Amino acid sequence: MAPSLVITIFSFLVLLSLSNAATKPRAFIFPIKKDSTSLQYYTTIQIGANSTSLDVVIDLGGKFLWFNSAEYFAAASTYRPIRCGTKLCRIANGVGCVFCFLSPPVPGCTNNTCSDYAHNPFTGTLGYSGLGEDTLHVYATNGAKYVSPHFPFQFSDPVLREGLATGTQGLIGLGRTNIALQAQLASSFKLSQKFTLCVPSSGDGNIIIGGGSYNAPFQKISESLISTSLIRNPVATWPNEKIGNLTVEYFINVKSIRVRNKTLSLNTTLLSIDKNGNGGTNLRTVRPYTILHTSIFRPLVNEFVKEATVMNIKRVASVAPFGACFDSKTISNSKTGPVVPTIDLVLQSKSVYWRFYGSNSMVKVNNDVLCLGFVDGGLDSITSISVGGHQLENYLLEFDVTSSKLGFSPSLQLSDTSCSQFKAS
Ligand SMILES: *[C@@H]1O[C@H](CO)[C@@H](O)[C@H](O)[C@H]1NC(C)=O
Ligand SMILES: *[C@@H]1O[C@H](CO)[C@@H](O)[C@H](O)[C@H]1NC(C)=O
Ligand SMILES: *[C@@H]1O[C@H](CO)[C@@H](O)[C@H](O)[C@H]1NC(C)=O
Ligand SMILES: *[C@@H]1O[C@H](CO)[C@@H](O)[C@H](O)[C@H]1NC(C)=O
Ligand SMILES: *[C@@H]1O[C@H](CO)[C@@H](O)[C@H](O)[C@H]1NC(C)=O
Repeated sequence: MAPSLVITIFSFLVLLSLSNAATKPRAFIFPIKKDSTSLQYYTTIQIGANSTSLDVVIDLGGKFLWFNSAEYFAAASTYRPIRCGTKLCRIANGVGCVFCFLSPPVPGCTNNTCSDYAHNPFTGTLGYSGLGEDTLHVYATNGAKYVSPHFPFQFSDPVLREGLATGTQGLIGLGRTNIALQAQLASSFKLSQKFTLCVPSSGDGNIIIGGGSYNAPFQKISESLISTSLIRNPVATWPNEKIGNLTVEYFINVKSIRVRNKTLSLNTTLLSIDKNGNGGTNLRTVRPYTILHTSIFRPLVNEFVKEATVMNIKRVASVAPFGACFDSKTISNSKTGPVVPTIDLVLQSKSVYWRFYGSNSMVKVNNDVLCLGFVDGGLDSITSISVGGHQLENYLLEFDVTSSKLGFSPSLQLSDTSCSQFKAS
């Protein structure tokens, strides 16, 4: 009797561990789509008992998922408030506790609930309300479906959606918090807190969370990424404006800027983050174009115009919001787009830089005119350089959140590919 019981328990354990090993996902995949009107990037998630499908805008520096959806509301049988004082409440690191009474309680109004401010980075609006959890249905890179059982989010007031791309219902954060998408999937499935972002200019790109391997030629490209430190802004501005919470955004250490190999003469104080959290360079998917402090914007535009003239490119009247525009008939084309002066963000040393060619630096405003796709953030801009979507497109960007490293590729166009081809393997 005893030996057979032992054998039974033993084989049960073996089976259990085998099935765990066989089912542990390597990485998860989410599409990235671009809304051509708002120039916002969004993904699709599935949440709750009915796997309600929602389009949500991607905010690389966002704290958590928030949305409002009547369809989810109607089917929210597995919605649970995150109670004040619980472990998940501590992980969420929010602000305060809400007491909201409706009988029966509904998403967004539950008693004794851990709460926080959701932030809309387009209007600067904040929405304070309780946090809840539900099942998030996710796809592994091999196509298998998994459930993250306690995924935290805020069911927000519908007003908070103003300014989001038409058809989207909220926003999903990939910032440096414990309840951002990558952080939650990493903790639910014991994956590393790593994600790869390939932002498309057209078609669908992908976010791959947890590492893993990619299709050709991306796997090879990913093996020789340029590496730089992700730095943390020590100061959290109160996020009641468009800038968000700077401590959870991704900053890189840009030391200088070159235009066609010429280093701009800049006030370098602006390039580092000071003790009040001002200055520095962050990466923002919620801005269509890179925004520069006026003291950086002016020298960049001046040098770009000067070098363009050397290349026989003719300047024409500027078109807002851009600072310099050119006659497209005087610009030739290559696989990296319009042939214009290159722009480099130079990082920890002169040989480590992020180079933008015409596809990333120029914006077509009509058939005759191409403009330099950088905009003036004014003299009061808190962050000196916010690298925006147009400049982030068609690079492979690997964020290793745990070790605070960013790996980035040269323009994918140099390898004759683009983010719409990026997949897992
Ligand atoms: C749940 O989904 C099913 C199938 O799509 C649908 O028929 C049903 O109405 C949904 N339930 C709610 C409450 O929305
Ligand atoms: C709300 O929660 C608080 C704290 O748990 C409790 O004291 C209070 O009775 C609750 N109120 C209602 C209406 O449920
Ligand atoms: C900003 O984020 C940090 C890290 O999550 C958090 O500790 C801080 O309370 C946040 N600040 C504000 C004003 O939301
Ligand atoms: C910029 O420098 C690189 C190498 O340092 C060189 O190959 C390239 O020709 C230079 N470009 C121009 C426009 O001077
Ligand atoms: C450089 O910028 C900093 C921050 O805006 C400013 O305080 C300082 O006076 C500037 N220095 C020069 C030489 O313009």
